[in-house]
Amino acid sequence: MAVPLLDLVAQYRKIREEVRAAVDAVLDSQVCIGGPKVAECEKAVAAYSDAKFGIGASSGTDALLNALMSAGVGRNDEVITTTFTFFATAGCIARLGARPVFVDIDPKTYNIDAKMVARRVSRKTKAIIPVHLFGQMADMEPIMEVARQRRLAIVEDAAQAVGATQKGKKAGSVGTCGCFSFFPSKNLGGAGDGGMIVTSDATLAEMCTVMRNHGSKPKYHHKYVGGNFRLDPIQAAVITVKLKYLEEWHEARRANAAYYDARFGGSKKIVTPYVEPHNRMIYNQYVIRIPADRGGSRDQVEAHLNAKKIGNAIYYPVPLHLQQCFAELAYKEGDLPHAEQAAREVLALPIYPELTEAQRDEVATAVLEAVGG
Ligand SMILES: Cc1ncc(COP(=O)(O)O)c(C=O)c1O
Repeated sequence: MAVPLLDLVAQYRKIREEVRAAVDAVLDSQVCIGGPKVAECEKAVAAYSDAKFGIGASSGTDALLNALMSAGVGRNDEVITTTFTFFATAGCIARLGARPVFVDIDPKTYNIDAKMVARRVSRKTKAIIPVHLFGQMADMEPIMEVARQRRLAIVEDAAQAVGATQKGKKAGSVGTCGCFSFFPSKNLGGAGDGGMIVTSDATLAEMCTVMRNHGSKPKYHHKYVGGNFRLDPIQAAVITVKLKYLEEWHEARRANAAYYDARFGGSKKIVTPYVEPHNRMIYNQYVIRIPADRGGSRDQVEAHLNAKKIGNAIYYPVPLHLQQCFAELAYKEGDLPHAEQAAREVLALPIYPELTEAQRDEVATAVLEAVGG
């Protein structure tokens, strides 16, 4: 039986009528930029994330870009972040003429090694971007401590972590602001690109609101150079509908993760995701590791799953410090060894909420077959 990595059609089938009615309402109104649907969505996502303000964005990438611009990041600044993340995290830093300073990961959680962050702070450091990878929050306390001492902005890249918590605090609500992505494959995905910044800092919220509209305030008067970073009302309508189901979907993902954890628990060749006891993970991805030093081969598992038409993915095969576009930063192989090893050993499996018992059995059986039990 083929099992896709993600089945958005199965999700859509259950909410089709509601989504179509919400989209129709936008089309009937012909309010196609901004308007009440965007405001409603911003309010709902901010409330869900325990933040005072939500500022819609055209994508998770643009949410990050806007947040960094609004926090004043620019030429010759340094921004500390993890090397093991989606490209957008560091791409936004570089696009502003700032320098990404890459930190290695905690090999258990794959998140930034928070204890290393303080050591990379320099006079040029302007901000830190902790990324809540795969749906689990990075260790925020040591990062917030550094931020307090050095007055740095903390922009949480919560693109994969809407609804995740740490010690009861929601992703996006701990730092200066948090950025979400509504890319369709995310736990809270739109029908296209979208994103949002959440913050409880009124000054920053105001700046993000101005910057998302070319820095224009009042209209056609530009104190700043911003961009078109707006969330569109059709995406806002879809997200607002889906938000109602999000907790239910998180729980279904967590149940699937518990199932895999139990199936893989007996195998020495599979490392299941480690979740810190004070974290609530939302499993945007379920990522196993096949450690080479235990005689396993991730590439062999990948090939076996591909042959059986079982969806899988490698997030991420090349850490950012080794990307060609960052060659001038002069990192070399071996500099951030935990991330480099993870890039060779990780594999994401289907975890979406609508996965059936038969499907997840098929996935687990195939993985166990591939590693020899
Ligand atoms: C960690 C991380 N940061 C940023 C982004 C960028 O979001 P988007 O694709 O919505 O621009 C993504 C998702 O793609 C992501 O996973």
